[in-house]
This record gives sequence, C-alpha cells and structure tokens, in this order.
Amino acid sequence: MITSRRSFVRFGASAATAAAMRWPLTGVSRGGIFEPFRLKQGDGFIRLNSNENAYGPSANVVDAMKSAIGSANRYPRMEYDALAEHVASFHNVKPEQVLFGCGSTEILRMAAFAFLSNRKQLIQASPTFEAIEHYARAAGSEVKSVGLTPAFAHDPDGMLAGADDSTGLVYICNPNNPTASLTPRKDLENFIVRLPASTFVVIDEAYHHYAGTSGTYASFIDRPLDDERVIVVRTFSKVYGLAGLRLGYGVGSPKLIRRMRTFATENNINAIATQAAAAALDDTGGVRESVRRNADDRQEFLNQAMARALKPIDSHANFVMMNTFHPAEEVIQHFQKNNILIGRRFPPMDTYIRISLGRPEEMKAFWQAWDLLPYPKHMMHH
Ligand SMILES: Cc1ncc(COP(=O)(O)O)c(C=O)c1O
Repeated sequence: MITSRRSFVRFGASAATAAAMRWPLTGVSRGGIFEPFRLKQGDGFIRLNSNENAYGPSANVVDAMKSAIGSANRYPRMEYDALAEHVASFHNVKPEQVLFGCGSTEILRMAAFAFLSNRKQLIQASPTFEAIEHYARAAGSEVKSVGLTPAFAHDPDGMLAGADDSTGLVYICNPNNPTASLTPRKDLENFIVRLPASTFVVIDEAYHHYAGTSGTYASFIDRPLDDERVIVVRTFSKVYGLAGLRLGYGVGSPKLIRRMRTFATENNINAIATQAAAAALDDTGGVRESVRRNADDRQEFLNQAMARALKPIDSHANFVMMNTFHPAEEVIQHFQKNNILIGRRFPPMDTYIRISLGRPEEMKAFWQAWDLLPYPKHMMHH
C-alpha cells in the first residue's frame, strides 16, 4: 500500500511539473489571489480523487477570506481563541473542549501521539482513512485492522475481539472513507461502552453533513455520549470547500483536549483560515446549498450507474465506491490516461474504485471515459 501511495505521489509531482511548464505561475500572475479554480484546472486533470468540494467555498466565505488578507502579517493567536469560542457556541460546548488542527489530519496526528506508543495499539477498520494508521506507526504502535461487515459498516464485535488493556485508541470513521457507508449509531454506542476503560476513541465525522439525519446516523457532537474518552473530529475541507486552507477541529472533554494539545504545532492555524471558518459556520444557507448540490450530484451518479447496470455502494458522502470486477489499478490507469484522477487503491477492496463527485461536466467526462473501458460490458457486474 505504501508503494502505491508513493507511486501516486510521484505521478502527482510529475503532472504538476508538466503543468508548471505549460502554464508558468498560472493563477498567481494572471488570475489574482482569488481565482484558485483556474489554477486547479490548469493542469488538465479532472480531480475526482481527494473527496474535495468541487464547487469551492460560498461567496460569503470568499468575502471573509478577502478581508482577512490584511491580517496576514500577524500571528493569529487571538483569532484562535475567538474561533474556539465561535465553534464552542456553535456546538453548545465550552471553548476548552475545542482543539484546532492544520486540517483534521493534524488532529488525527495529535490523537496518535497522545494515546499511542510502542506499548499501545490502534484498532481501526479496513479499509478506512489511512492517516491515523501512518501516525500510529510513527508513534511506534501496532495497528490492528478489522474488516468491514458485508454492509460496509464497522464490525464492532471484530474490533472488540482485538481490544484489551493495551488498546490505546480506536479509530471510527463515520461515514467511512473510502466506502461512503454508515455504521449504525446504536452499534457504535454499544461498542464504545464495551471498550476497555483505558481506550480512547476518535470518531471522524469528516463527511458528517452528507450523511443526513436518521435513526442510523447521528453525530457524536450533536448527540454526545457522556464519555470522557471520546473525541469527535470535523473538517472544513469538505462541505465548506476549504481543503486548501487546512483547518479541522476536534471536540472532546477538556481533559482529553489538554492532553492532545501538547502535540499540536504552535500557531498551527492561519489567520485567513480562522476568518473563513467563522464565516463558513455562520453561512447556514451556503451549507444547505452545498449539501443539496452534493445530493443532486450523487443521485445523478446513481442514475448513470444504474443505466449501466452498476451497483455502487450506497453513498452517504461526497464520493462513491464501486466494484468494477477488474483490478482497480488498471481502471485507475485507464482514467488517468483520459485525464481523470480517481481515488487510489484501497486494499483489500482490490476491484473497487472510489470516485469523488465533481461538477456535472466533470462527471460527464467520467462516464464518457467509463464507457471507453476495454472490458466486455457483461464482465462489469455479476
Ligand atoms: C475521513 C477523513 N478524515 C480526515 C481527512 C483529512 O481532512 P483534512 O486534513 O483536510 O481536514 C479526510 C480527507 O480526505 C478524510 O477523508
């Protein structure tokens, strides 16, 4: 897996170099500061590979970023506290329960270093978002990966079977990346109470807004457990369209937050991100629009898939995972040749591909490329 990530990174670098040769300083010299979309499209690739928000931030958020530019020369210490209060009141918690990171990835790193060591292990699902596994290994920790259930949910019994007093941390990603699937709320509650008392729990809700609310799904921030071992992680990279600004946060008990904070980078969030985040949280209309657009795009994906007798995994996120019944690597390469980047391989789901939802014209290109796949169509499904 590490090899494939490396080769992916290498590929990314060469594409970027090629792009830089074609359009030196695109967007900076020509487009000005607030035309990042032009810059993104400049390398010729359609990006359906990182579960970003293809539409970018709302107009209110862009305005907030513009006015924040003037504070770029100052360290954002006061802004950190102001944003902590903002997020706290948004979620009805205390500011000391909120921790920011350079992306939620930094929160995951802090959790790994705060709760793991060579005597403590991490339990996670497989496949799931890999960042915490990398940081766990960097902390010297063993990692136990437990396969998802046939419904692509976390397997509470399987994870519990591996848990003992040496389990420092359990990672739960809900909705799960890369499968876009949900683990029922009740199953998670029953699982968490049965974990050893010394085991901490990260619940990664990066895709929260796309999950909707139902008996099956409820956020652990909105409906918290009375449990000091749990930290819930959110990001501004998805529904808010701010992946490039790098801002995420965790919400947990003050004690747990204090412990994790010691592993944070000093001044880890930037002056523009703080202003953008405050505007993004307040922009309920913008969020609603973002969720609605994603629902439309997801439905259209499903329609296109059904028209081809394909059955993607039921998606509760801004991406879709789908069995191609062919080696994923070959399918990924095919799309790459057609200038479309889709998700990397996700062992052990070696015949599945993950497609982040893009704009309608990008998805049209995706399906055109799909229809060019050299496999006989009856080989594409059962
Ligand atoms: C489940 C999950 N958590 C965390 C992240 C990291 O997001 P960021 O560091 O941009 O907040 C991602 C990114 O794709 C993700 O899928």
